[in-house]
Amino acid sequence: MRNLAFPTTLYLSLLGSSAVSAAVSVYNAEATVTGAYDPTQVTGLPNFDNTVLTAPAPPSPAVTQLSWSVPNTEDALVSQGYELGVKQRGNFLGFSIELSVADQIMGKNPVNLKVPFLNYLANIRSRAGMGPLVRVGGNSQEASTLYPQGFDGHAIIEKVRADGTVTPTINYSPDIFYMMANVSNMVDAHWFFGLSFNQSAVETQSPNVPLVAQTAQQMLGYHLLGLQLSNEPDLYVDHNKRAAGWTVENFTAEYSEIRNEILQDASLSNKQFLIGPSVCCDKVGFELDDVLATGWLDQEKDNLAYVAVQHYPEDNCGVNGNYLNAQDIYPEWLNHTSVTNLTVPYFNGTRAALAAGKEMIMFETNTASCGGFAGLSDSFAASLWMADYALQMAYRNFTAALIHVGGQSVYYNPFTPPPSNMTSVWKWTTGSVYYSTLAIAETLGPSNASQVVDLSPQNNNIYAPMYAIYENGAPARLALFNYVSDASGGSDYVATISLGGADLPSGNVSVRYLRAPSVTEKYNINWANQTLGASYTSDGRLYREQETVSIQCDMTAKTCSIPVYAPSMALVFLTTGAIQEAVGAEQATATFATTVVNVGSATVDPGALATGNGQMGSSATGATSEGSAKTSEATAMLTISSMMAVLLMATTIFAHQTLN
Ligand SMILES: *[C@@H]1O[C@H](CO)[C@@H](O)[C@H](O)[C@H]1NC(C)=O
Ligand SMILES: *[C@@H]1O[C@H](CO)[C@@H](O)[C@H](O)[C@H]1NC(C)=O
Ligand SMILES: *[C@@H]1O[C@H](CO)[C@@H](O)[C@H](O)[C@H]1NC(C)=O
Ligand SMILES: *[C@@H]1O[C@H](CO)[C@@H](O)[C@H](O)[C@H]1NC(C)=O
Ligand SMILES: *[C@@H]1O[C@H](CO)[C@@H](O)[C@H](O)[C@H]1NC(C)=O
Ligand SMILES: *[C@@H]1O[C@H](CO)[C@@H](O)[C@H](O)[C@H]1NC(C)=O
Ligand SMILES: *[C@@H]1O[C@H](CO)[C@@H](O)[C@H](O)[C@H]1NC(C)=O
Ligand SMILES: *[C@@H]1O[C@H](CO)[C@@H](O)[C@H](O)[C@H]1NC(C)=O
Ligand SMILES: *[C@@H]1O[C@H](CO)[C@@H](O)[C@H](O)[C@H]1NC(C)=O
Ligand SMILES: *[C@@H]1O[C@H](CO)[C@@H](O)[C@H](O)[C@H]1NC(C)=O
Ligand SMILES: *[C@@H]1O[C@H](CO)[C@@H](O)[C@H](O)[C@H]1NC(C)=O
Repeated sequence: MRNLAFPTTLYLSLLGSSAVSAAVSVYNAEATVTGAYDPTQVTGLPNFDNTVLTAPAPPSPAVTQLSWSVPNTEDALVSQGYELGVKQRGNFLGFSIELSVADQIMGKNPVNLKVPFLNYLANIRSRAGMGPLVRVGGNSQEASTLYPQGFDGHAIIEKVRADGTVTPTINYSPDIFYMMANVSNMVDAHWFFGLSFNQSAVETQSPNVPLVAQTAQQMLGYHLLGLQLSNEPDLYVDHNKRAAGWTVENFTAEYSEIRNEILQDASLSNKQFLIGPSVCCDKVGFELDDVLATGWLDQEKDNLAYVAVQHYPEDNCGVNGNYLNAQDIYPEWLNHTSVTNLTVPYFNGTRAALAAGKEMIMFETNTASCGGFAGLSDSFAASLWMADYALQMAYRNFTAALIHVGGQSVYYNPFTPPPSNMTSVWKWTTGSVYYSTLAIAETLGPSNASQVVDLSPQNNNIYAPMYAIYENGAPARLALFNYVSDASGGSDYVATISLGGADLPSGNVSVRYLRAPSVTEKYNINWANQTLGASYTSDGRLYREQETVSIQCDMTAKTCSIPVYAPSMALVFLTTGAIQEAVGAEQATATFATTVVNVGSATVDPGALATGNGQMGSSATGATSEGSAKTSEATAMLTISSMMAVLLMATTIFAHQTLN
């Protein structure tokens, strides 16, 4: 074993010794959603792109009534030819952060965490009953190197852009793992991290990839779920990362060589740690089934944590100068066909992975690669589509899917920080697909026992898919979609739900809506009447009062009638237990208020972090949802590390959620 020198203790003492605490006054806890900004100050960024597409005309005649019969037991379901997917966790839909922008999203150093980012994650935790899944990696992981000695100011990343290249070389320090550990301390995030798939980097005198694996495991412990080895290897030849003629057999041979080098050179506490093959792009001869046909799974299974694929349904790469027109392809994201078709290529591989005891992950996805499309990727259509796609993947036995977060120049981000020269003035932009993560966390819920079935074939209406979520053999929740955009109300439909003639579990059901005025809407998107607002106005917390609609059922006919607005997704809690479970999970978690004082980020007092762990300290009161925080008596703390004092001028409020 080669010696992997790593100055762990040095780092701990540097960061730990210089903290000084001071109390500061709390500014107004209620930020306004309509923050002002002057778009003329920055031009050309997607968040200033006002492109709004035209919604497809509503189908005629309009469908205004659909009946759904939901089998009241799993046995009844199976006897009707349906099958349930595997058990799911509430954090199914997570985030994939491109390594090259990790410092913009998470913060420049472990002390200077971005509070909006923490809040975006805390919102998932409070709904899923466990911390969110976050991957750091992507194309930029391939040209990345760990610098164990670190950088000035504890910077997590240094980008080196060689002249004429598009993708920068990323040098990162162990501080990136400290930072991830810090984020986990607060919001229980569970991480995936990307290794460079590079034989020569392994073989050099100081073997970097094994060092990364060892360091990541040591520093993140059980919060590290796995390390990705190979990112879209089916594109390596196209991207000049491997010579022409490098085949799936070359790939699997190289995979095992690098894996062996890591095992030989690193001291790993968890040896089932790798994730692959992460093929993406329907390359003939290099698809998931082709990789599996080489025996890759058998060859690697002792060291694999998960099997993964990556896929975007379209791209905006302009291959050979041929750009797709967003308006022309908009209908692809506005019906159920795409999501069902997208899962078909993985049926065989998913079965093989599960048979080998490995879970299957959609490791990176979004509406379209190469930045997505203006007006499409950032519209409510994407919210509905992503929710539908997530449930379809859950039904087809994926157990996680990660929405990619790119830089300032992409349209599909779930959240985007302000441009770096504006962090003092503006807040963040919440993207339409972020709302899908809230809806899916509640649809799957905190039980770890949710099993999904797509019941859409009952009505075969591509604009009105419907899923049932079973817990312990009985239906607990339903997700009903209406992809049609029709402000007149003429395309709203009433879903008449029965449990196949069985008695209803209670006289009423609870409903929460994912809603917007049109599928083209970018900002006025609401989950249970709560929103994160317009461009550059979000601190990652939900505003307005949460709305849970109670609908009286007809106990004689044994049916419940649920309005499903055009457009919307309705989440129906069939049992009082199901809605209580949702409410209980929400009460457990804190979010973090920022007061904007010169910087867009804030320090978080380590002593107060226990309150962010789901067990609220008795001194903290207030509300997570800003709308219900009207008279919050929040505890404010400011910690200034002397090292960082110049940078930090903000407060953190720990507040717990009250229900409406
Ligand atoms: C972040 O990590 C460093 C190093 O482990 C630690 O000293 C510091 O207290 C942590 N800060 C927070 C806010 O968790
Ligand atoms: C901020 O940066 C953008 C993009 O580089 C530039 O267009 C703009 O002028 C800058 N604004 C200010 C206020 O510095
Ligand atoms: C692999 O790593 C070596 C040594 O660090 C570097 O010179 C080379 O460019 C890398 N290859 C690829 C394909 O990234
Ligand atoms: C692929 O593997 C074969 C067999 O080991 C080898 O001869 C060939 O050079 C490899 N091709 C590339 C492009 O690495
Ligand atoms: C439905 O979606 C499919 C696949 O995404 C697309 O090809 C088709 O045009 C859409 N159909 C309608 C009627 O919008
Ligand atoms: C989707 O799959 C169905 C059934 O396999 C097929 O008939 C249809 O052509 C596919 N549609 C698209 C848009 O790929
Ligand atoms: C899945 O496996 C079956 C049987 O081995 C085969 O017929 C089918 O083509 C495979 N499907 C895919 C998408 O590879
Ligand atoms: C998903 O897993 C369940 C339970 O093992 C199985 O019945 C079902 O066929 C699987 N679905 C797919 C698409 O493989
Ligand atoms: C669900 O699983 C997570 C992680 O595996 C665990 O922390 C949590 O306690 C489980 N929740 C329930 C209700 O069992
Ligand atoms: C809904 O039903 C539950 C259980 O039967 C009951 O406690 C609750 O008061 C009802 N709510 C409404 C609004 O009718
Ligand atoms: C939605 O939130 C707004 C603002 O908090 C509130 O005035 C309104 O009553 C809420 N709507 C419902 C139906 O709860």
